[in-house]
Amino acid sequence: MGDGWAGATLVGVVALGALSVIVSALRLGISPMPSSRAARRAVLSLVPPGVTGEVHELGCGWGGLALAVARQCPHARVIAWEASLVPWLVSAVRARGVANLEVRRGDFLRGDLSRAEVLVCYLFTGGMRALADKLTRERPGTALCIVSNTFALHGWTPRDTLVVDDVWRSRVYRYDAVPPGPRAP
Ligand SMILES: C[S@@+](CC[C@H](N)C(=O)[O-])C[C@H]1O[C@@H](n2cnc3c(N)ncnc32)[C@H](O)[C@@H]1O
Repeated sequence: MGDGWAGATLVGVVALGALSVIVSALRLGISPMPSSRAARRAVLSLVPPGVTGEVHELGCGWGGLALAVARQCPHARVIAWEASLVPWLVSAVRARGVANLEVRRGDFLRGDLSRAEVLVCYLFTGGMRALADKLTRERPGTALCIVSNTFALHGWTPRDTLVVDDVWRSRVYRYDAVPPGPRAP
């Protein structure tokens, strides 16, 4: 009887967790699929070495890339955003004891990126467009570095583009950008 309840509870928790991941992916427009190892290496190679300010990862999924960035940039304060409950929970647990990594639950589009020096992301076309709009509104004329796996910022010119040695031959872009101000009506 006890074992039966424990088994049923475990199945229920796993099913609820899976449902939560699916519902969040449908709401956000992207699943928590991690960057491939090769893409992660490419992203890390484009993050400026020796950064000491804030590095934000926009949608950290299960936390692997955020941990790698925090280890590579020990003097930076890494803030990893995640809106989906279960991936956020996993990332927060993985980040315990990593002094320069904070995992925040929430939508980075509503978050404060005003002190960010570097943004790291692996999103989707609509997410990149929303990010460009946010930067144009909130950070016009302020330089920052953006490293994006696979998805480009439409209309912005990358400083570097790497072709990743993975099955998708994905690209990783680095922008050293000064977001333009909003256009006059
Ligand atoms: C493709 S995964 C990338 C995970 C990780 N960055 C990596 O490269 O391994 C994208 C993640 O971004 C999250 N995400 C998408 N839009 C978001 C938003 N507006 N705010 C916070 N997280 C978001 C999704 O929930 C998902 O976990």
